[in-house]
Amino acid sequence: MEERRENWGSKLGLILAMAGNAVGLGNFWRYPYQAAKNGGGAFMIPYFAALIMLGIPLMLVEWNQGRYGGKYGHGTLGPMIYLQAREGVKPKTAAVLGAIAGMFAFSVTVLLNSYYNHIIGWTLGYSYMSATGQYMDKSIKTGAFFGEYLISPGKSLIFWIIAVALLGFAVMRGIQKGIEAWAKVMMPTIYIFGIILIIRTLTLGAPVKPDWTPIAGLDYIWSPKWSELNAKSALAAAGQIFFTLSLGMGIIQNYASYLKPDDDIVVSGLATVSLNELAEVILGGTIAIPICYAFLGPEGLSAGVGLSFVALPNIFRAMTAGRLFGTLWFLLLFFAGFTSAIAMYNYLVALLEEEMGVKRNVGSVLVFGLYIIIGLPVALEGILTKKAELFYLSELDNWVGSYFLVVLGLLEVIVAGWLMGDKALEEMNKGGYWKVPKWFFNLFVRFLAPVYIIILLVWSTINYYKEGYFKLVPTFAEKIPELIPWVQGARVVIIVVLIIGFVQSYRSIKRK
Ligand code: PHE
Ligand code: NA
Repeated sequence: MEERRENWGSKLGLILAMAGNAVGLGNFWRYPYQAAKNGGGAFMIPYFAALIMLGIPLMLVEWNQGRYGGKYGHGTLGPMIYLQAREGVKPKTAAVLGAIAGMFAFSVTVLLNSYYNHIIGWTLGYSYMSATGQYMDKSIKTGAFFGEYLISPGKSLIFWIIAVALLGFAVMRGIQKGIEAWAKVMMPTIYIFGIILIIRTLTLGAPVKPDWTPIAGLDYIWSPKWSELNAKSALAAAGQIFFTLSLGMGIIQNYASYLKPDDDIVVSGLATVSLNELAEVILGGTIAIPICYAFLGPEGLSAGVGLSFVALPNIFRAMTAGRLFGTLWFLLLFFAGFTSAIAMYNYLVALLEEEMGVKRNVGSVLVFGLYIIIGLPVALEGILTKKAELFYLSELDNWVGSYFLVVLGLLEVIVAGWLMGDKALEEMNKGGYWKVPKWFFNLFVRFLAPVYIIILLVWSTINYYKEGYFKLVPTFAEKIPELIPWVQGARVVIIVVLIIGFVQSYRSIKRK
């Protein structure tokens, strides 16, 4: 079991790669519309609560699980959870817990990334179309333009395939020369582009109405609205914390498995959280939302998923040098998405390496094939039905990209806090520049995080039930009968991937 695994080349490289993992489309595409849709200042209160009670403790737990697993030659979640769980329960039980964790991590890295890759493709396509000025004509409706992009096979497929191929090339070169090298270029670029875009945003003035200023947009996000707090926005906020910090996915553990056994994790884990939050609430929050506010007013913020691809193009063409700023914006999204998707891609390559002894370059090609096949329906739905509703994608996102993360997070924190217990704390503090105090571990890891997640799960289950997600034909799909097979197809795919994930990780644990 003592096979040699690669390590990170430098501390800076590691931090940038981890930040690259966390900083993704979640920060720039998902966060602005979640915050806008869920009441702005009312969203930020549960958001920060979840950051402290869930985000930070789980980040430390995941780094710890990864480094511990890496010590035994593992980069995937099944064996990692098994190793920690067996400190507290019988090996048989630990194996089942490990297999469940491995199953969820597998389904997330396969399925979440299968549609995330498409969104990365859109950002690449839109960078190109911004640079070449394809939506600059005022007679073009940006909503219809986006729809057209989704239902026509030309550009959307090409940019998607380019994106997945680039990911494959990066992963093929390994941890230091691939992942670390790309993060060192792309991450600083993201912050630089972000700052340029912020300056542009804040100097927009009031182009449409005197009181629609970018600052008024910021005010919408930042003035706390205690009276508007509600369960729904609290759920959305906690879900966003999971998504944005890459928690409950298995990919933080995978990156941490390339640490050396006594590398620091406490300060590095906190640095990852800080860099992500900087990119989210400062950069992510100070670009899209104030721009939309300045041009479209308070109503413009309800644009939802289309905020980046529909509302912003509208605005770029109205502003001076909009072609340039549009290009910068979509490239920023592309870099952010790319450095995150690389982590999921690497997880699957690591799995092939470990379980089947497949060489990294062969594994990278196999995973490329997998992502193309499993990602195809996301694009085919629009191309074949000529409806740009993205139901297949939504169904995957509802379960895999939202619900599963929380379930896996609960399992992880229970295994670390209760089954491994004090040994987990001891392990966490090995080699740490700072030590996690015992009271913090007891209060946050053992108590607050699991309780918070359980409440969250109960709430979201009730909410899912009420919204009709559990029905054979979920309520949202009823309005377009033609698309129902796509939603149900997505469910079949989810179930099949779960089963494969379970069997695979159970067998890999058994073998050890
Ligand atoms: N943390 C990532 C983000 O904010 C989440 C993610 C990672 C999603 C990898 C997909 C793939 O976008
Ligand atoms: Na993020």
